[in-house]
Amino acid sequence: MNTKIQAIRGMNDILPQDSIVWAQLEANIRNVFGQYGYQEIRFPIVEATGLFIRSLGEVTDIVEKEMYTFIDNLNGESLTLRPEGTASTLRAVLEHNLLYDGPKRLWYSGPMFRHEKPQRGRYRQFHQFGLEALGFPGPDVEAEQIILTVRLWRELGLTDLQLQINSLGDADARTKHRAKLVEYFSRYDEQLGEEEKRRLHTNPLRILDSKNPALQDIIAAAPILLRDIDAESRHHFDQLQSLLRGAGIAFIINPRLVRGLDYYNRTVFEWVTTKLGSQGTICAGGRYDGLIEQLGGKPQPGCGFAMGVERLIEMMKECGSVTAAKPPDAYVAYQGEGTMQAAFTTTEALRDSGLKVVLHAGGGGFKSQLKRADVSAARYAVILGEDEIRNGKLSLKPLRGQGEQATIELAQAIESIKQGQTHGSL
Ligand code: HAM
Repeated sequence: MNTKIQAIRGMNDILPQDSIVWAQLEANIRNVFGQYGYQEIRFPIVEATGLFIRSLGEVTDIVEKEMYTFIDNLNGESLTLRPEGTASTLRAVLEHNLLYDGPKRLWYSGPMFRHEKPQRGRYRQFHQFGLEALGFPGPDVEAEQIILTVRLWRELGLTDLQLQINSLGDADARTKHRAKLVEYFSRYDEQLGEEEKRRLHTNPLRILDSKNPALQDIIAAAPILLRDIDAESRHHFDQLQSLLRGAGIAFIINPRLVRGLDYYNRTVFEWVTTKLGSQGTICAGGRYDGLIEQLGGKPQPGCGFAMGVERLIEMMKECGSVTAAKPPDAYVAYQGEGTMQAAFTTTEALRDSGLKVVLHAGGGGFKSQLKRADVSAARYAVILGEDEIRNGKLSLKPLRGQGEQATIELAQAIESIKQGQTHGSL
């Protein structure tokens, strides 16, 4: 026998019992993003590799070891499956000159690819919903993005989430801080692992993310960037905090929050939970005022965030906020001479009236058809036999709860089904 082909490690199928939750989540997010004036942008899944190297930073985990990069054999181009959406958004915005008439609020969604070690909440193909506000320099738009997320958590019924914020200051503050870190970590040369030694001179900020147990105390005592940020960035950060307080949003300042991508300046934030184990960040982002220029555009500020859909889905389940799928209203069973055509016509008439109806397929007697009706979770069976067809009627049989089977006309059946309707999400 042939061996079965399986899905790629870290890449998941989303089965019907879950896709209904995904649809529920997606509808909520689209609605909330729209309420805040964000417009959808869709860009390709594959981009030129250089886009990500230039925007995410050469010495980041993603660029160094997690990108799905390959050479297009047909023309020799180096291509990469997108690991995130900010770079592509900006590429598209510059390519189509979208900022010509002022700032823009954009959102996107879809699969992202990172060759990480798969574990709960961490996959190689995962999905994000993200948004980017381009052309807005102030903390107002950051506060609004955070307020938007709070609305979303409320609509999704998510609890036990903590907002962490930090400021990385301007480029100058980061350059000075970098020198301080190099000086500091050089003192512990012997404790540094191979990777940290390499990063010491390329990107010392990344050492702060190191999980190396021998380094944790040293990292904890390392110089803190937030203490050294420039006055303007401090003022910006203070304003953000007062806007959040004004909106009644609780947060903590986490001076160790540096994010894994290089493009950030000033505000960075993450929403974290303890409900999901070690992969507890469900939403993360911040400001990236230098990135548009870095990608060849006229300098324009930007800020945004992205949420991990798989983690949000898990949170919805943890928080019990999943709405059950709406079962079919009716299952149409038929048997006998001339009943198939009548079954099609009747089923379409039921659907015309807005009902969700499954028409039996695959033949078989009434007994086996009614078993299928039961498995489908339909609330009613509509039965069409030769007698019914002859009399221009149908038999309506309630499958859940009370009620007798009755032979009635189509219009009456529609009314009965509608009256007994239950409500669900789809
Ligand atoms: P990020 O922190 O790399 O930021 O990813 C954002 C979110 O995507 C994470 O908080 C997490 O929920 C989810 N995520 C990331 N990697 C995985 C994975 N391997 N498996 C499952 N979920 C994952 C960005 O991507 C930035 N582009 C966010 C941003 C937008 N900053 C400004 N604008």
